[in-house]
Amino acid sequence: MKIVFATNNKNKVEELKTLLPDHIEILSLKDIGCTEEIEETEDTIKGNAKLKADYITKNYGYDCFADDTGLEVDALDGAPGVYSARYAGEDATYEDNVQKMLAEMLNKIDRKAKFRTVIALNLKGNQYLFEGVCEGMILKQKQGKKGFGYDPIFQPDGFDRSFAEMSLEEKGKISHRGLAVKKLVSFLK
Ligand code: IMP
Repeated sequence: MKIVFATNNKNKVEELKTLLPDHIEILSLKDIGCTEEIEETEDTIKGNAKLKADYITKNYGYDCFADDTGLEVDALDGAPGVYSARYAGEDATYEDNVQKMLAEMLNKIDRKAKFRTVIALNLKGNQYLFEGVCEGMILKQKQGKKGFGYDPIFQPDGFDRSFAEMSLEEKGKISHRGLAVKKLVSFLK
């Protein structure tokens, strides 16, 4: 089975490849000739996941799935949430966002946070949604070099290491995206 994963994020594609069974082959946006950036204009994670999947189905005619993820921090009233990619500004890098988060959280005692992923799947004219949540805390400094985004400053509950100190397989077993993908895979089976 071939299905399009509507993302340009190489890290996400690599993660997904370790999570999907062999009989499901992922096509990237590049593989289908889509080179344009799909703008995330909705104000919810669910809305953006739907928007990205719908853009591909409408313009390219493929069954596909898209994910959107946000980091929700309790002490910041759930921010940055859907704005996680642009937390430090429109063209913010991962490092800019991490530094802004460390600064905002400098004197905060409550460090609870969660990653939330929503996957929207368009299949044979219907749309299905799958959600995964990973609870944890924001560290006081960066730890580890693996992963991407906020991984170096997020420690999942039950672990004494950040996501950036875990292999893709280990992160995938407990992560927001891993949990959402698990639901997607059991649905596709
Ligand atoms: P996106 O809109 O789903 O691509 O993700 C929004 C932001 O969340 C991106 O800037 C990433 O830095 C961050 N992000 C998404 N997934 C992860 C993850 O698994 N670990 C760390 N950061 C992530």
